[in-house]
Amino acid sequence: MKLVFASNNKHKIREINHILDDRITLLSLSDINILEEIPEDEPLIEGNALFKARYVYNATGLNVFADDTGLEIEALNGLPGVHSARFAGENKDSSANISKVLSMLKGITNRKARFRTVIALIFEGKEYLFEGVASGTIIDDKRGNEGFGYDPVFLPEGREFTFAQMDLSEKNKISHRAIAFEKLKEFLRQHTLSDIR
Ligand code: IMP
Repeated sequence: MKLVFASNNKHKIREINHILDDRITLLSLSDINILEEIPEDEPLIEGNALFKARYVYNATGLNVFADDTGLEIEALNGLPGVHSARFAGENKDSSANISKVLSMLKGITNRKARFRTVIALIFEGKEYLFEGVASGTIIDDKRGNEGFGYDPVFLPEGREFTFAQMDLSEKNKISHRAIAFEKLKEFLRQHTLSDIR
């Protein structure tokens, strides 16, 4: 079955291909010739995910899903949240984003944070939302070279290694995105492909 993933982020497409069954053919935005950047200006993660999915659905009529993720830091009242990608500026610079977070947390002992992913699916014209959460803490120094974004400073609850110190299959056992995508996969299994494991 063909399904559009409203993204061109190679890291994410790799992660998701790892999670979804082989019999689902994921199409990226460039695969369906949507080359413009879809705006992400909504005030909530849910709104951004829905906006992106509706944008593709309205343009193509294809089954489509979109995701949006934020890092929600308790002591910063949920920031960077929906602003995670551009927290330190429009160029989406991960190390500048990390530096900004670490400087805002200087002297603060509550380091609790969570990644939250919301997937919006439009399937046969109906809309569905799936959520995944990974809880943990923000550490002071960057550790590891895997992954992307805030991974080097995010220590998942009960773990010794940051997301950036884990390989993809390890991260996919516990990540916010993996949890949300397992829910999507289960939905697809029940609604379309009874033979998908
Ligand atoms: P997006 O909505 O998935 O594009 O995520 C927004 C921003 O959140 C990204 O640009 C990253 O800075 C951050 N982010 C999302 N997922 C992850 C992750 O798995 N690890 C680290 N940072 C992430």
